[in-house]
Amino acid sequence: MNFHGSDIISVNQFDLADVTTLFTLAHRMRGIAKGETKCKLLEGAILGNLFFEASTRSRMSFASAFMRLGGQVNSTTGFAFSSMDKGESLSDAITVIKDYCDALVIRHPQIGAAQEAARYADIPVINAGDGAGEHPTQALLDLFTIFEERKVVNGSTIAFVGDLKFGRTVHSLAKLLTLYQGVNYVCIAPPQVQMPDLLIQEIRSKGFDITLTDDLETGVRSADVVYSTRIQEERFEDKMEFETIKDLCVLNRKIVTEKCKKDVTIMHPLPRTSELSTDLDSMPNAAYFRQSANGVLVRMALFLLLLGRESQLV
Ligand code: NCD
Repeated sequence: MNFHGSDIISVNQFDLADVTTLFTLAHRMRGIAKGETKCKLLEGAILGNLFFEASTRSRMSFASAFMRLGGQVNSTTGFAFSSMDKGESLSDAITVIKDYCDALVIRHPQIGAAQEAARYADIPVINAGDGAGEHPTQALLDLFTIFEERKVVNGSTIAFVGDLKFGRTVHSLAKLLTLYQGVNYVCIAPPQVQMPDLLIQEIRSKGFDITLTDDLETGVRSADVVYSTRIQEERFEDKMEFETIKDLCVLNRKIVTEKCKKDVTIMHPLPRTSELSTDLDSMPNAAYFRQSANGVLVRMALFLLLLGRESQLV
């Protein structure tokens, strides 16, 4: 794809060359991300950071990425403090906000909202999560992390655990992994929140193996990467259903030590609730905090590409 001026709505937009371009640049961001090297490539640029759903990592890492590159960030969080609370439509809001900024990041509870926002903005729009749809930059940083931790993706077995129905990070990463060869998918979830049929079909039609199970202890055995996720309480209409499944796939040190491969990589997009025990945190296999740190590098690289400044990097 031609990154310059593009919107980032879905991982379907990327091919292998795009991922390589992005990750090569992300590696060059380390010194700047730590504040050791000063960068003014985005000086004068303003990011509109629009979060209509809860967020810590995505909101702050997008903002830090932009600011580390010398740009400034103008944000709005939640509907309550925006004019949408007065009934303003998303299209009107974006039509106005686009003239205040050079790029927009949007998180919104409705599937398709980022795509809709992009229709009304003549500046790059990045989907930071549209309901249970996609979260493409999370998938990019997840993939970057798999490479960082394990060096290879081809031939790996990835176990997705938890809420695979509503988990947008799962949807995006599962699709992005189809760019690679011989990836085996193990989807471990209570039947109520298993991977959506359409996504299973899409992945199988590309020739990949997917195993579906609700048995955590058996499911994780063959995994090189275990990608644990939070049950997305906010997406349940029936709160009783949430209560009955919320503690069915809890990953802890005992399971990882006794059932998983010794060199398994444990990932999680965070935030965690009870599904990922804190007794895992001190294990070298626990990659989730390194994963969230990688988000800044990947988002910095993406901003440079979308705003066409990458060639000015010295
Ligand atoms: C995730 C999200 O918002 O989809 N968080 C994130 O962006 N790192 C995962 C979640 O909320 O469970």
